Formats: sequence, C-alpha cells, structure tokens
Amino acid sequence: MEIVITPDPQAAAVVAADAIERLLLNNTEPVLGLATGSSPLPTYQELIARYRSGRITFANGRAFLLDEYVGLEVGHREAYRTFIQRELTDQVDLPANALFGPDGNTVELATAAERYEQLISDVGGIDLQLLGIGSDGHIGFNEPTSSLGSRTRLKTLTDATRTDNARFSDDDISAVPRHVLTQGIGTILEADHLILLASGASKARPIAQAVVGPLMAMMPASALHLHPHATVIIDEAAAEELSHSDYYREAFANKPAWQHI
Ligand code: F6R
Repeated sequence: MEIVITPDPQAAAVVAADAIERLLLNNTEPVLGLATGSSPLPTYQELIARYRSGRITFANGRAFLLDEYVGLEVGHREAYRTFIQRELTDQVDLPANALFGPDGNTVELATAAERYEQLISDVGGIDLQLLGIGSDGHIGFNEPTSSLGSRTRLKTLTDATRTDNARFSDDDISAVPRHVLTQGIGTILEADHLILLASGASKARPIAQAVVGPLMAMMPASALHLHPHATVIIDEAAAEELSHSDYYREAFANKPAWQHI
C-alpha cells in the first residue's frame, strides 16, 4: 500500500487526477470507478479543469458508481447517480450512456445487484476505482463486519453513517435512506488500481487503523492491504494519527520519475 501525504486536499486532487489522466491517455477504453461524497470533489474539479483545457477526454470512457441509495427516485437530488452527474460527468464529455450505477429504485434489489456485477465484468472490470473512507472505516457502503469477500448487495447503513451523510440533506437524518446497494469489498478489490482519498481530522483515526492494520472486518478499509496496487492519498490532518508518516513523505518525495502512483 502506498501512502501519499499532501499539504491539502487540492494537492491530493492533483496526485489522483494525474493517475486518472494517465489512464485516460493510455487506455483506449478506460473504465473508472467513481465514489461520491466530499472526498473526491477536489479531484473531480481538477478533472473538469483538465477536460476544459483540452488535456483529457472521457469520450471513450465508462464510469461505474461505487454505490447507490435504495428508494430514491431517478433524478432525486441526493441519488448518487444525480450527484456524480452534477459534480463530474455532466461537466465533461463522458457519453450519457456510459455512466452505470446499481439500480436502487427497484423492488428486485438482489437481481439489480447481480446485474451490476455482470455489467462490471462485461466491460472487463474497473481500471481505477476512487474510494473515500467513512468515519467508521467503511469503503463503498461496506459497513464494519462486512465480509472481506462480499459482492454488490443490499446493505443497511449504520446510524453513524446516516448522521455523517445528513449534511447533504439539511442535517435531517430521516431524509437519509437506511438502505443502499454497494459494490462489495470483494468487488472493489478486483479493480486494477484503488485510490482512497481522505482529508480532515475526522478521518485521522480510521486512516491510521486502516493503514497500520490489523486487517479486520471491523475496519473495512483495512482490506486495501489485500490489493497489490492500492494508493492512499491524504492531507496532513487525516495523517495526524499515522505512525511512520515521515517515511511516507520521504518515499513519495524521492520516487523515481518513471514510477507513478
Ligand atoms: C461514497 C461512498 C462512501 C464515502 C465515505 C466518505 O460513494 O461510498 O464510502 O466515500 O462515506 O464520505 P465523504 O467523502 O463524504 O467523507
């Protein structure tokens, strides 16, 4: 696992966007996995700026959501498909039919989950998956005790996660759905490259536990240790409780020029 500590979230966004830019330039049919929430927003802003300046195109790409709320109608402001359209895909040239997400608006949720797994496999898997981390250590919406081999499925959000996410719904926890469809940890681990972004003091504890270990179901983000190419990009505040942080800074500062994240 590579740990990159940056002075602020904007610098973290540049490191993540550089990796996405390389994928878009070098792969004829790039497949991105997109997270919602606050953590990836600076990266999405950076990608939009690079698209507008003509540096990158998403025209041949496909994008897959990490998760989706259950029961929010199509176009609902807080639905994750709407979120990602608003914050990224409507502002770049990703074709409208190249954005995929689990269908959380059906009664056939188990079928929708299976269909989503099939879709990801039909395109040959995800090349680069962006992730955030919950204050309880979740990735996607795999809450603590999720199986490390889990696939896309229905999950019940913890009260802690619903409280965290109420900020997007005027602090009204009752407006945050209790259920989601989320890529499983096993699904996430099949992407070629995982980039986890985190900033701010509220992420310092889960980041320290995920990076240092132990690998455990109570800390879903610790599953990144099972992946051969996982990059954790954090700002100084999120690195606050991390041991070995000087080593991570030194390693990144002295990376050979040819060796990207
Ligand atoms: C979002 C997702 C979640 C968030 C996590 C952190 O699609 O799957 O795991 O990444 O809850 O959220 P923020 O970035 O808002 O702190």
